[in-house]
Formats: sequence, structure tokens, C-alpha cells
Amino acid sequence: MSEYTPLSTHAATAQIVNATDQGMLLRTGSAALTASVGSPTSRHDHRWTTRKWEVAPDHVGAWIAESDFGTAPAVTRALHDAVDAGFLTYLPQHTAAEAERECAAFLKRRFAWDVPVERVHLVADVVEGLRVMLRNFAAPGQPVVVPTPCYAPFLSTPRKLGRAVIEVPSVQADGRWQLDLDGIERALSGGGVLVLCNPHNPLGQVMREAEMVLLAEVVDRTGSRVFSDEIHAPVVYAGAHHIPYASTSEIAAQHTVTATATSKGWNIPGLKAAQLILTSDADQQLWVERDIVPSQNGSILGAIGAIAAYRDSAEWLDETIQRFDRNRRLLTELLRVHAPHARYHEPEATYLAWIDLSAYDLPSRPAEYLAQHARVVTSEGADSGVGYEKWVRFNFAMAPELLTRAVESLGRALASRPLAER
Ligand SMILES: Cc1ncc(COP(=O)(O)O)c(C=O)c1O
Repeated sequence: MSEYTPLSTHAATAQIVNATDQGMLLRTGSAALTASVGSPTSRHDHRWTTRKWEVAPDHVGAWIAESDFGTAPAVTRALHDAVDAGFLTYLPQHTAAEAERECAAFLKRRFAWDVPVERVHLVADVVEGLRVMLRNFAAPGQPVVVPTPCYAPFLSTPRKLGRAVIEVPSVQADGRWQLDLDGIERALSGGGVLVLCNPHNPLGQVMREAEMVLLAEVVDRTGSRVFSDEIHAPVVYAGAHHIPYASTSEIAAQHTVTATATSKGWNIPGLKAAQLILTSDADQQLWVERDIVPSQNGSILGAIGAIAAYRDSAEWLDETIQRFDRNRRLLTELLRVHAPHARYHEPEATYLAWIDLSAYDLPSRPAEYLAQHARVVTSEGADSGVGYEKWVRFNFAMAPELLTRAVESLGRALASRPLAER
């Protein structure tokens, strides 16, 4: 695995370039976190500026959930081969079927979850999977219940489809975030769809089996459904253990639609091939009868990427998790030193950190303040639900040198503010 060239070498050209394992140059932003590094952007080739780095000049992109660490060599090779062969057509059925097989095999190897391959279905992406679920497998008119904080599109997507959304804030107890099961039961009292996220974005927590068992009872009692977004399941740190919600009981299996993908673990969200897993017999029957999402709707390169990721790239994934892990620990240390009043639980999964800045007297949109004053672009907590206006989500999937500079800069911007009155 290639290492990053020290930041100082790049300072001359005022950019940090991530030499990924493929030797490809991905533009990952300028190093101008300090005044000594000027504004360089006009000299750059912008072709390889990723979405995360589409930020103002001299700002660090720490917002959208993509990583600066590229993808696995086997994925890159498979994509090159496909392009060289002109394999850029509609998605052939045999390729879709192979991706579905490799997904099922990965779920079995990694999580001991035995899913019949015919229950795995390609869809363009996980958010599209949520739309498919709401349009086809959820009673019309019922609300969507979202434990918060949450991934922002869990709130916006159902609303765009005309669904009422009920936010149920999770509670902090014993150093963990826990679902408010009573609140969820009240919100689901007339039936509805609960959107679960496990491992959790933005909290970085991995759900414990006992909590899932209690949740399944609530969902079952209220005759509701679950959409279980498990897109982050490949990125779990040692010590935590991902258990697919639908695998916890037959009752859970029958009320759940699970979504997963290679897009986070292997950093290929642009390829568009997520997987829906239909453990409910009724859902599966409807899917087949109505041809709900024809298999050629996925992307051919997405399916090729998913096959190579699931089948050939476990070692790369584990090495990359170790890289994230080092950053996770570095971030804890950096926040302790540079932002001592920020509150943060080290995540058990994902490369996202959910940071409580309520101890600082900040303007109403802290991420905006930090972008302006620290030149670090994070995600606004308010997007994750009502009550999280003083939080930000920080993506730490970046070179450690850059992470260090970013948090030092955040620390300076925070230190320039008074502490909030308690
Ligand atoms: C929890 C969660 N679900 C879904 C997505 C988006 O996935 P997709 O691009 O497959 O829609 C993300 C991306 O950050 C995410 O964090």
C-alpha cells in the first residue's frame, strides 16, 4: 500500500495529492490550511477533483461520505478490463446475477448471513432502494419514522414522495446512543416504515443484538416495516461486530428490506450498483410478479466493481479499515488537544465522526462557521434532524497529515470563540 508523500514536499506546489494504490492521481485538495501556503488552484488539473474536494480554494473537504484512499487494485483492474473490452452496454443479466451471487457470498463470509442469491437484487443506489421500498412495499399514507440523528436523505427522500416523516431522537445513555423504543412505538402506532441505519451514519455505532430484538418486537406489534440501510457494514473496526438486522429473527426477516453496497467499503459510490435484500416472502413475490426493478437498471461498471470488490478485495478492505482506524485514533487525540470542549465518541464503524460543539458559543450554523474560519468543510448537524444544530459530522478518510492540519485549524477557530453559558 502506498504511503503519502509528506505534506511539506507538496507545499511548494501547494497541493496534497493522494497517490492511490493504482498510481492514479486523485486531486484531494490544496494544503493551504496555513497562510504560508498560497492559493494554488488555478494551476491544477481539475479532472480528478472528487466531489468531496469540490470546495472553495484552500479548504479541506471533510463532508460527503467518500474516502481519499482510492479503491482496491482488483476493482480498478476489473474496470480497466471492462472499458478496454468496450463492455459498456446495458447491464447483461449474467453480470447482474454474478454481482448478486458475490454479494450473497460476501454476506455469508463476513457476517455469517445466509441469504439465498435469488433474494439479492441490484438497484442503482441505496437511496433509490429506499424509494423502491416506499413505493412498493409500504402501505400508502403511512409515515416514515426516522431515529435521529440520521443520514440527511432519510428525511428528505420520503418527504419528496409525499410521506410524513416523524423524527424520533435517540438518547445517550451509558456512553452510547440508544434508540428511543417507546418514542418509536408511539410514532409507529398506526403502522409505518422505520428507517434503520446500521452501522450508523453519523454516529458510527454498530447496533447490539439485544437492541435489535427489542426493536423487532415493537415493529411487529405495530404491524410496521423496516428499511435497514447497512451500506457501512464493510467498515467496522476490531472489537465491534455487525449483525444484519434481518438476520436476528424470522420476524425481523419478514418485515425488513435490507440495502447494502460496495460504495462505502470500496469507495465506488459513483458506479451505481447497490443491492436490496428481500427477506420477506411477500416482497419477493411482488418483486418477481411486477418486475419492480428490471435487472438491466443497474450500471454495468457498477456490477463489475461490486463483483471485484466482494470477491477479490477483502484484503484491501481490511488494510483500508486499519488506515481508517489509525485516523480514528489520531482524531480522538487531536480533538483532545486542539478542541478540548468538543464531545465525541470514537466510532465503532465508518470513517465519520459526529462531534458535539455545544460547549462553544458558535453561530447557528457551526459547519458554515468552520468552513469560513477554519477552512474545513464539514456537514451541518441540523441536516441530521431537529435538535442537532450544534453538531457537525466530520469525515476523517484523508491523509493523516491533512487530518492533523484540519483539526489544528478547527481548534484555532473554536478557541477564538467564548465557551457557551451553561
Ligand atoms: C447511511 C447511508 N446510506 C446511503 C448512502 C448513499 O448511498 P447511495 O449512494 O448508494 O445512495 C450513504 C452515503 O453517504 C450513507 O451514508
